Amino acid sequence: LVSFGGLKGYLAKNPETEVVIFAGKGGLGKTTCSAALSLWAAREGKRVLCFSTDPQASLSDIFEQDLFGKGEVEVEKNLFVTEIDADKRIADYVESIRAKIKDMYKLEELPPEIEQYIQSASAEPAMYESATYDAMAELLATRDYDLYVFDMPPFGHGVRMIAMAEILGKWVEKITDARKQAQEYEEVAAKLRGGKISEDKVLEELNDIRKKLTFFTEVMLDRKRSAFFMVLTAEKLSIMDTETALKMFEGLGLNLSGLVLNQVYPADLKESPSEFLKNRLEMQEAYLQEIRKKLGDHVISVIPMFSKEPKGLWMLADVAKHLINSPTRLW
Ligand SMILES: Nc1ncnc2c1ncn2[C@@H]1O[C@H](COP(=O)(O)OP(=O)(O)OP(=O)(O)O)[C@@H](O)[C@H]1O
Ligand SMILES: [Mg+2]
Repeated sequence: LVSFGGLKGYLAKNPETEVVIFAGKGGLGKTTCSAALSLWAAREGKRVLCFSTDPQASLSDIFEQDLFGKGEVEVEKNLFVTEIDADKRIADYVESIRAKIKDMYKLEELPPEIEQYIQSASAEPAMYESATYDAMAELLATRDYDLYVFDMPPFGHGVRMIAMAEILGKWVEKITDARKQAQEYEEVAAKLRGGKISEDKVLEELNDIRKKLTFFTEVMLDRKRSAFFMVLTAEKLSIMDTETALKMFEGLGLNLSGLVLNQVYPADLKESPSEFLKNRLEMQEAYLQEIRKKLGDHVISVIPMFSKEPKGLWMLADVAKHLINSPTRLW
């Protein structure tokens, strides 16, 4: 039987960790792990921010407090939780773009084709990811906390989000170049006319975005400062998904900090009189062996299946024990 180092082992080796991201397929325990780690770290004396944009308000649910769209709420000493209302953020953003365009071009109303374009762009699913990303970058830039725990939204597995850092950076760079060029032409044209052109608000804004992204990307890609954990369960789809994600990580030149194996049925169910439970346990055993073979080196913590959904500080502290110290031995 092998015991695992738990997140404590990882954090001891990486004391400069300031961002932790839990990724993984939907419904396996990202939010549970994010909340448990945040609680533990806060009780260790760190000033912690636990963040999510889940429209289901899963952090409100797990901390048993209404946090949605309420800003950074201190749930316990040093433990701050923020649940961003991404839809509202997108709506505000779109409104600010409308205002800027109207202001720059001195318009009373936006032309219908531009209005239509803005509306269809804001309905893109990518807008939701961008809003999440933007909120993360903004919070990190404040440097208000010792530890930021980012609970990834319940679609995709969060790895794409991390890849976005680089992609967005390049994209903003390109637009900035194009804009600079345009401005040079405008200056020439203005000189010929004998006038002067006003400061470029777009370029200013692009510069701000770029600064924020650059800083965020730097932290995200710094292995000493950012940790990525994936949550998996002893089930076929979860194993397949984790393998895919690992390949994505490699392709992006990123480092997976470790796998958290969640919802493991206790081995003493073998003695259970229930055929159903015995069968479930046998099935799990086969998948555990598969995990050991394919992904065993990455497993860092094992969390047992609890008899009810872990919620509230008291139960979360119990989950944290497993996540942090990982006393369960396997294979
Ligand atoms: N170890 C466990 N024992 C029992 N129930 C668990 C355990 N871990 C998670 N759960 C339950 O499983 C469900 C999914 O967990 P959680 O919300 O943490 O997953 P998630 O990855 O954040 O999901 P989503 O992708 O929807 O955001 C929740 O109802 C949670 O209470
Ligand atoms: Mg969740």
